Amino acid sequence: MGKIVVIGSCNTDMVVTAPKIPVPGETILGNEFSIIAGGKGANQAVAAARAGGMVTFVAKVGDDNFGIDAIKGYKADKIDTSYVFKDPDTPSGIAIIIVEEGTGQNSIVVAGGANKKLNIDDIKAVEKIISEADVVLIQLEIPLDVVEFSLKLAKQYGVKTILNTAPAQPLSDELLRLVDIITPNETEARILTGLDPVSDEEVKRAAAKLLEKVNEAVIITLGSRGVYFVSKSGENGFVPTTNVVAVDTTAAGDVFNGYLAAAMADGKSYLDAISISNKAATISVTRKGAQPSIPIMNELS
Ligand code: RIB
Repeated sequence: MGKIVVIGSCNTDMVVTAPKIPVPGETILGNEFSIIAGGKGANQAVAAARAGGMVTFVAKVGDDNFGIDAIKGYKADKIDTSYVFKDPDTPSGIAIIIVEEGTGQNSIVVAGGANKKLNIDDIKAVEKIISEADVVLIQLEIPLDVVEFSLKLAKQYGVKTILNTAPAQPLSDELLRLVDIITPNETEARILTGLDPVSDEEVKRAAAKLLEKVNEAVIITLGSRGVYFVSKSGENGFVPTTNVVAVDTTAAGDVFNGYLAAAMADGKSYLDAISISNKAATISVTRKGAQPSIPIMNELS
Protein backbone atom coordinates (compact mmCIF):
# COMPACT_ATOMS: atom_id res chain seq x y z
CA MET A 1 0.00 0.00 0.00
CA GLY A 2 1.64 3.25 -1.17
CA LYS A 3 1.82 6.34 1.02
CA ILE A 4 0.31 9.42 -0.57
CA VAL A 5 0.21 12.97 0.74
CA VAL A 6 -2.44 15.10 -0.96
CA ILE A 7 -2.08 18.83 -0.37
CA GLY A 8 -5.04 20.88 -1.54
CA SER A 9 -8.51 22.29 -1.24
CA CYS A 10 -11.60 21.22 0.64
CA ASN A 11 -14.94 22.62 -0.56
CA THR A 12 -18.60 22.00 -0.01
CA ASP A 13 -20.32 21.96 -3.40
CA MET A 14 -23.69 23.69 -3.87
CA VAL A 15 -24.95 21.92 -6.97
CA VAL A 16 -27.90 22.85 -9.18
CA THR A 17 -28.91 20.82 -12.22
CA ALA A 18 -30.28 22.85 -15.12
CA PRO A 19 -31.27 22.32 -18.75
CA LYS A 20 -28.27 24.40 -19.81
CA ILE A 21 -25.43 26.52 -18.42
CA PRO A 22 -26.69 30.14 -18.38
CA VAL A 23 -24.82 32.79 -20.36
CA PRO A 24 -23.74 36.07 -18.66
CA GLY A 25 -26.78 38.16 -17.70
CA GLU A 26 -29.20 35.26 -18.10
CA THR A 27 -31.45 33.78 -15.38
CA ILE A 28 -32.77 30.29 -15.99
CA LEU A 29 -34.87 27.88 -13.95
CA GLY A 30 -32.93 24.89 -12.68
CA ASN A 31 -34.10 21.67 -11.07
CA GLU A 32 -32.42 19.66 -8.27
CA PHE A 33 -30.29 21.31 -5.58
CA SER A 34 -27.79 19.28 -3.51
CA ILE A 35 -25.02 20.00 -1.03
CA ILE A 36 -22.15 17.61 -1.73
CA ALA A 37 -18.59 17.11 -0.41
CA GLY A 38 -16.07 18.40 -2.96
CA GLY A 39 -12.90 20.40 -3.51
CA LYS A 40 -10.21 19.26 -5.93
CA GLY A 41 -7.75 18.38 -3.18
CA ALA A 42 -10.30 16.51 -1.10
CA ASN A 43 -11.74 14.69 -4.12
CA GLN A 44 -8.25 13.54 -5.08
CA ALA A 45 -7.48 12.44 -1.52
CA VAL A 46 -10.72 10.43 -1.37
CA ALA A 47 -10.01 8.90 -4.80
CA ALA A 48 -6.48 7.88 -3.74
CA ALA A 49 -7.89 6.32 -0.55
CA ARG A 50 -10.67 4.46 -2.42
CA ALA A 51 -7.96 3.22 -4.82
CA GLY A 52 -6.32 1.58 -1.80
CA GLY A 53 -3.65 4.17 -0.92
CA MET A 54 -2.63 5.26 2.60
CA VAL A 55 -3.54 8.92 2.38
CA THR A 56 -2.69 11.95 4.49
CA PHE A 57 -4.70 15.01 3.45
CA VAL A 58 -3.22 18.45 4.12
CA ALA A 59 -5.78 21.25 3.88
CA LYS A 60 -7.43 24.08 5.77
CA VAL A 61 -11.10 24.49 6.70
CA GLY A 62 -13.03 27.04 8.72
CA ASP A 63 -14.37 26.36 12.20
CA ASP A 64 -17.86 25.68 10.84
CA ASN A 65 -20.21 22.81 10.00
CA PHE A 66 -18.97 22.51 6.43
CA GLY A 67 -15.44 21.92 7.72
CA ILE A 68 -16.58 19.53 10.47
CA ASP A 69 -18.70 17.45 8.05
CA ALA A 70 -15.93 17.36 5.47
CA ILE A 71 -13.45 15.96 7.98
CA LYS A 72 -15.99 13.31 9.09
CA GLY A 73 -16.23 12.21 5.44
CA TYR A 74 -12.43 11.88 5.05
CA LYS A 75 -12.24 9.85 8.26
CA ALA A 76 -14.90 7.49 6.91
CA ASP A 77 -12.54 6.92 3.97
CA LYS A 78 -9.69 6.17 6.42
CA ILE A 79 -7.75 9.29 5.42
CA ASP A 80 -5.35 10.71 8.01
CA THR A 81 -6.86 14.11 8.81
CA SER A 82 -4.30 15.15 11.46
CA TYR A 83 -3.15 17.91 9.10
CA VAL A 84 -6.49 19.33 8.06
CA PHE A 85 -5.93 22.65 9.82
CA LYS A 86 -8.68 24.99 11.07
CA ASP A 87 -8.82 28.75 10.62
CA PRO A 88 -11.24 30.15 13.22
CA ASP A 89 -11.72 33.43 11.35
CA THR A 90 -12.46 32.25 7.81
CA PRO A 91 -15.31 30.17 6.40
CA SER A 92 -14.65 26.82 4.79
CA GLY A 93 -14.35 26.79 1.01
CA ILE A 94 -17.46 26.36 -1.09
CA ALA A 95 -18.15 25.87 -4.78
CA ILE A 96 -21.23 26.83 -6.78
CA ILE A 97 -21.73 24.24 -9.49
CA ILE A 98 -24.24 24.12 -12.34
CA VAL A 99 -24.56 20.72 -13.98
CA GLU A 100 -26.13 20.65 -17.42
CA GLU A 101 -28.77 17.93 -17.71
CA GLY A 102 -28.30 15.75 -20.75
CA THR A 103 -24.54 16.30 -21.11
CA GLY A 104 -23.31 16.21 -17.50
CA GLN A 105 -21.01 19.16 -18.31
CA ASN A 106 -20.57 21.73 -15.56
CA SER A 107 -19.63 25.26 -14.68
CA ILE A 108 -17.90 25.90 -11.35
CA VAL A 109 -17.11 28.97 -9.26
CA VAL A 110 -15.08 28.48 -6.07
CA ALA A 111 -15.06 30.79 -3.06
CA GLY A 112 -11.78 29.54 -1.57
CA GLY A 113 -12.29 30.77 2.01
CA ALA A 114 -9.99 28.86 4.38
CA ASN A 115 -8.24 27.15 1.44
CA LYS A 116 -6.61 30.52 0.76
CA LYS A 117 -5.23 30.55 4.32
CA LEU A 118 -3.19 27.35 3.98
CA ASN A 119 0.37 28.59 4.45
CA ILE A 120 4.01 27.56 4.35
CA ASP A 121 4.16 27.05 8.15
CA ASP A 122 1.34 24.50 7.83
CA ILE A 123 3.39 22.59 5.27
CA LYS A 124 6.50 22.78 7.48
CA ALA A 125 4.45 20.99 10.16
CA VAL A 126 3.98 18.07 7.74
CA GLU A 127 7.64 17.80 6.70
CA LYS A 128 8.17 14.38 8.31
CA ILE A 129 5.06 12.88 6.70
CA ILE A 130 6.06 14.32 3.32
CA SER A 131 9.59 12.93 3.68
CA GLU A 132 8.17 9.41 4.21
CA ALA A 133 5.66 9.52 1.35
CA ASP A 134 5.89 7.70 -1.97
CA VAL A 135 3.93 10.40 -3.80
CA VAL A 136 2.89 13.99 -3.10
CA LEU A 137 -0.12 15.12 -5.14
CA ILE A 138 -1.04 18.82 -5.42
CA GLN A 139 -3.48 20.99 -7.41
CA LEU A 140 -3.95 24.75 -7.74
CA GLU A 141 -6.88 25.70 -5.47
CA ILE A 142 -4.46 26.71 -2.69
CA PRO A 143 -1.95 29.61 -2.70
CA LEU A 144 0.79 29.21 -5.31
CA ASP A 145 3.62 29.86 -2.82
CA VAL A 146 2.33 26.88 -0.80
CA VAL A 147 2.25 24.73 -3.93
CA GLU A 148 5.84 25.70 -4.74
CA PHE A 149 7.11 25.18 -1.18
CA SER A 150 5.41 21.78 -0.93
CA LEU A 151 6.92 20.63 -4.22
CA LYS A 152 10.36 21.85 -3.09
CA LEU A 153 10.08 19.97 0.19
CA ALA A 154 9.00 16.78 -1.52
CA LYS A 155 11.86 16.99 -4.03
CA GLN A 156 14.32 17.63 -1.18
CA TYR A 157 13.40 14.16 0.13
CA GLY A 158 13.30 12.52 -3.31
CA VAL A 159 9.53 12.04 -3.13
CA LYS A 160 7.68 11.75 -6.46
CA THR A 161 5.55 14.84 -7.16
CA ILE A 162 2.38 14.96 -9.24
CA LEU A 163 0.93 18.36 -10.11
CA ASN A 164 -2.63 18.51 -11.38
CA THR A 165 -2.76 21.97 -12.95
CA ALA A 166 -6.40 22.68 -12.11
CA PRO A 167 -7.84 25.27 -12.08
CA ALA A 168 -5.90 26.55 -15.10
CA GLN A 169 -3.27 29.23 -14.60
CA PRO A 170 0.16 30.05 -16.02
CA LEU A 171 3.08 28.56 -14.06
CA SER A 172 6.76 29.50 -13.94
CA ASP A 173 9.51 27.25 -15.27
CA GLU A 174 11.01 27.27 -11.73
CA LEU A 175 7.85 25.70 -10.34
CA LEU A 176 7.55 23.20 -13.18
CA ARG A 177 11.14 22.04 -12.53
CA LEU A 178 9.90 20.70 -9.17
CA VAL A 179 7.24 18.55 -10.82
CA ASP A 180 7.81 14.91 -11.78
CA ILE A 181 4.45 14.19 -13.41
CA ILE A 182 2.15 16.93 -14.68
CA THR A 183 -1.50 16.20 -15.49
CA PRO A 184 -3.18 19.09 -17.34
CA ASN A 185 -6.48 18.82 -19.18
CA GLU A 186 -6.81 20.40 -22.64
CA THR A 187 -7.55 23.90 -21.33
CA GLU A 188 -4.66 23.82 -18.88
CA ALA A 189 -2.30 22.43 -21.54
CA ARG A 190 -3.31 25.35 -23.78
CA ILE A 191 -2.54 27.91 -21.07
CA LEU A 192 0.76 26.26 -20.16
CA THR A 193 2.05 25.81 -23.72
CA GLY A 194 0.27 28.36 -25.92
CA LEU A 195 -0.66 25.46 -28.23
CA ASP A 196 -4.22 24.38 -28.97
CA PRO A 197 -4.32 20.62 -28.30
CA VAL A 198 -7.29 19.80 -30.50
CA SER A 199 -5.77 17.46 -33.10
CA ASP A 200 -3.69 14.45 -32.03
CA GLU A 201 -0.59 16.10 -33.51
CA GLU A 202 -1.12 19.28 -31.46
CA VAL A 203 -1.71 17.21 -28.32
CA LYS A 204 1.64 15.49 -28.89
CA ARG A 205 3.36 18.81 -29.55
CA ALA A 206 1.93 20.35 -26.36
CA ALA A 207 3.00 17.30 -24.35
CA ALA A 208 6.52 17.41 -25.82
CA LYS A 209 6.80 21.11 -24.95
CA LEU A 210 5.75 20.46 -21.35
CA LEU A 211 8.01 17.42 -21.05
CA GLU A 212 11.01 19.72 -21.50
CA LYS A 213 9.95 21.54 -18.31
CA VAL A 214 9.13 18.68 -15.91
CA ASN A 215 11.22 15.75 -14.63
CA GLU A 216 9.43 12.58 -15.69
CA ALA A 217 6.17 12.62 -17.59
CA VAL A 218 3.26 14.58 -19.04
CA ILE A 219 -0.23 13.11 -18.92
CA ILE A 220 -2.86 15.18 -20.76
CA THR A 221 -6.46 14.24 -19.98
CA LEU A 222 -8.72 14.72 -23.00
CA GLY A 223 -12.18 14.01 -21.58
CA SER A 224 -14.09 11.44 -23.61
CA ARG A 225 -11.08 11.18 -25.98
CA GLY A 226 -9.08 9.53 -23.19
CA VAL A 227 -5.51 10.44 -22.27
CA TYR A 228 -2.20 11.12 -24.01
CA PHE A 229 1.03 10.53 -22.11
CA VAL A 230 4.72 10.86 -22.83
CA SER A 231 7.61 10.14 -20.50
CA LYS A 232 11.34 10.90 -20.48
CA SER A 233 11.91 7.14 -20.34
CA GLY A 234 10.48 6.92 -23.87
CA GLU A 235 6.95 5.59 -23.25
CA ASN A 236 4.10 7.42 -24.97
CA GLY A 237 0.69 6.94 -26.51
CA PHE A 238 -3.01 7.65 -26.50
CA VAL A 239 -4.99 5.62 -23.95
CA PRO A 240 -8.67 5.57 -24.94
CA THR A 241 -11.52 5.62 -22.49
CA THR A 242 -14.83 3.74 -22.64
CA ASN A 243 -17.78 5.78 -23.91
CA VAL A 244 -20.54 6.12 -21.33
CA VAL A 245 -23.58 8.32 -20.86
CA ALA A 246 -22.30 11.11 -18.61
CA VAL A 247 -24.64 12.22 -15.85
CA ASP A 248 -22.21 14.57 -14.08
CA THR A 249 -18.58 15.13 -15.05
CA THR A 250 -17.75 16.96 -11.78
CA ALA A 251 -14.52 15.60 -10.26
CA ALA A 252 -13.71 13.20 -13.14
CA GLY A 253 -10.25 14.79 -13.35
CA ASP A 254 -9.86 14.48 -9.59
CA VAL A 255 -10.76 10.80 -9.66
CA PHE A 256 -8.19 10.30 -12.41
CA ASN A 257 -5.48 12.07 -10.41
CA GLY A 258 -6.22 10.35 -7.09
CA TYR A 259 -6.16 6.91 -8.71
CA LEU A 260 -3.02 7.86 -10.64
CA ALA A 261 -1.23 8.87 -7.43
CA ALA A 262 -2.18 5.59 -5.75
CA ALA A 263 -1.03 3.57 -8.76
CA MET A 264 2.29 5.44 -9.04
CA ALA A 265 2.84 5.04 -5.28
CA ASP A 266 2.42 1.28 -5.84
CA GLY A 267 5.11 1.37 -8.54
CA LYS A 268 2.80 0.67 -11.50
CA SER A 269 3.87 1.56 -15.07
CA TYR A 270 2.42 4.71 -16.66
CA LEU A 271 0.26 2.65 -18.98
CA ASP A 272 -1.20 0.50 -16.20
CA ALA A 273 -1.67 3.50 -13.90
CA ILE A 274 -3.43 5.51 -16.64
CA SER A 275 -5.69 2.60 -17.63
CA ILE A 276 -6.84 2.08 -14.04
CA SER A 277 -7.33 5.84 -13.51
CA ASN A 278 -9.30 6.15 -16.77
CA LYS A 279 -11.65 3.37 -15.65
CA ALA A 280 -12.26 5.01 -12.29
CA ALA A 281 -12.88 8.44 -13.86
CA THR A 282 -15.29 6.89 -16.38
CA ILE A 283 -17.35 5.29 -13.62
CA SER A 284 -17.45 8.61 -11.75
CA VAL A 285 -19.11 10.49 -14.63
CA THR A 286 -22.03 8.05 -14.59
CA ARG A 287 -22.82 9.17 -11.02
CA LYS A 288 -23.88 12.46 -9.48
CA GLY A 289 -21.65 14.74 -7.41
CA ALA A 290 -17.97 14.88 -6.55
CA GLN A 291 -17.03 12.58 -3.64
CA PRO A 292 -20.16 10.36 -3.78
CA SER A 293 -19.29 9.52 -7.42
CA ILE A 294 -15.81 8.14 -6.65
CA PRO A 295 -15.64 4.34 -7.04
CA ILE A 296 -13.71 1.97 -4.80
CA MET A 297 -11.09 -0.22 -6.43
CA ASN A 298 -13.32 -3.36 -6.40
CA GLU A 299 -15.84 -1.63 -8.67
CA LEU A 300 -13.28 -1.36 -11.48
CA SER A 301 -13.01 -5.06 -12.29
O1 RIB B 1 -13.00 19.28 -9.67
C1 RIB B 1 -14.27 19.41 -9.11
C2 RIB B 1 -14.20 20.28 -7.90
O2 RIB B 1 -13.81 21.59 -8.28
C3 RIB B 1 -15.50 20.46 -7.17
O3 RIB B 1 -15.74 19.47 -6.21
C4 RIB B 1 -15.40 21.87 -6.62
O4 RIB B 1 -15.40 21.94 -5.24
C5 RIB B 1 -14.13 22.46 -7.22
O5 RIB B 1 -13.06 22.41 -6.35
